[in-house]
Amino acid sequence: MPVEGQDKKPWGGRFTAPTDAFVEAFTASVDFDRRLYRHDIAGSIAHARMLARVGVLTEAECQAIVAGLEAVRADIEAGRLAWSTALEDVHMHVESALTARIGATGKKLHTARSRNDQVATDLRLYLRDAVDAAVSELRRLQAALVDLAEREADTLMPGFTHLQTAQPVTFGHHLMAWYEMLARDEERLADTRRRLNRSPLGAAALAGTTFPVDRPYAAALLGFDGVCGNSLDAVSDRDFVVELAAAASILMMHLSRMAEELVLWSSAQFDFVDLGDAFCTGSSIMPQKKNPDVPELVRGKTGRVFGHLMALLTLMKAQPLAYNKDNQEDKEAIFDTVDTVHASLRVFADMVPGMRVKRDRMREAARRGYATATDLADYLVRRGVPFRDAHEVVGKAVRHGIETGRDLAELTLEELRGFSPAIEPDVFQVLTLEGSVAARDHVGGTAPAQVRAAVARARIRLEAA
Ligand code: ARG
Repeated sequence: MPVEGQDKKPWGGRFTAPTDAFVEAFTASVDFDRRLYRHDIAGSIAHARMLARVGVLTEAECQAIVAGLEAVRADIEAGRLAWSTALEDVHMHVESALTARIGATGKKLHTARSRNDQVATDLRLYLRDAVDAAVSELRRLQAALVDLAEREADTLMPGFTHLQTAQPVTFGHHLMAWYEMLARDEERLADTRRRLNRSPLGAAALAGTTFPVDRPYAAALLGFDGVCGNSLDAVSDRDFVVELAAAASILMMHLSRMAEELVLWSSAQFDFVDLGDAFCTGSSIMPQKKNPDVPELVRGKTGRVFGHLMALLTLMKAQPLAYNKDNQEDKEAIFDTVDTVHASLRVFADMVPGMRVKRDRMREAARRGYATATDLADYLVRRGVPFRDAHEVVGKAVRHGIETGRDLAELTLEELRGFSPAIEPDVFQVLTLEGSVAARDHVGGTAPAQVRAAVARARIRLEAA
């Protein structure tokens, strides 16, 4: 005898008492997994078509199910489906809505399937789309960086080590360093996608199914590259979730490093860039303030993505084969991860084109701080002075400059010759910022010509996809 109120539960048959109301809410996932509905329906349509192909469903039954599922999708999209924790998750909602629409045939859909292989399939399909969407925002950001790098290929700025002025670089070169970081992120996402794109369908609960399923056929319908090779692994594997969280963490780490530089550069102390009013906010008490909230928030959001990676690794570490309810906890973590990555990439891609670059301020900062000291040492080496001795000589010249409040280029020839007789009048060419960057003219160097070459290579890559 079915228990009252329990009759809607598809697993209600072996139960005599209703679920505790709080347990029902505690175990339900529908509030967060309903976002899987499109992928759940796509998976079900493929499963039904496969069942018809192998003769488990008739062609008419299959058509009724497919039409019914499409109608359920339209209902969900129009907000006509009433979601309720009594039906636990998105899979049960879709199936019960289907049966409500088409009658008894709807109950045949779950043949040769379990929610275990179903949810693994849905999540793979959902994350495949999420990866593609993230990659397209990532490329939009890359394209914005490449455009700006081309415009700023000749712009001089200080390059830093230890956040101390080190050597002059071009701003275009700095932007192309960001581009490279993102290019690795894209490779990692593509690699994650490759391993993610396998079909668990047919694994059923854990051991496979007694029906003559055609797993490759269902996989092909869903655009998977193949099927998961072991049913136990298929339903319990969440490596793809962890991998995606790891790739997302590295990507956010990169965005956070960029954010940190943008925050520094928009301070009055650096004053290298203006992020634009649309991407900053003011202070309710200090009228002069224009705060770089966007990069600060991206830097801050990095923390939650790292947290999700740790949560997912911990979620998986002690699970025996095969499916465990623990797995339901993967969703909020990975959904928030993909949402955060997408939003962060999007806001950066929107912000970069409007950034105002303060070239004079950058140049002035590079001029201070003895950025061409290494160039002077290299100059002496070309005149036969061993590098260690040259280093010593330039160190003394810098100290003299600091004591007299001047840059190396502002010292007289006589003063410079006082440190080394190898110094000739042509020394002033290497002491200029332009000369310094132009001299680093090899693949990966900061010379404007190399920045333009890097931009050209990047454009070919961006256009190829
Ligand atoms: N809501 C579940 C999840 O997210 C679906 C699978 C449930 N399977 C089960 N045997 N309880 O993992």
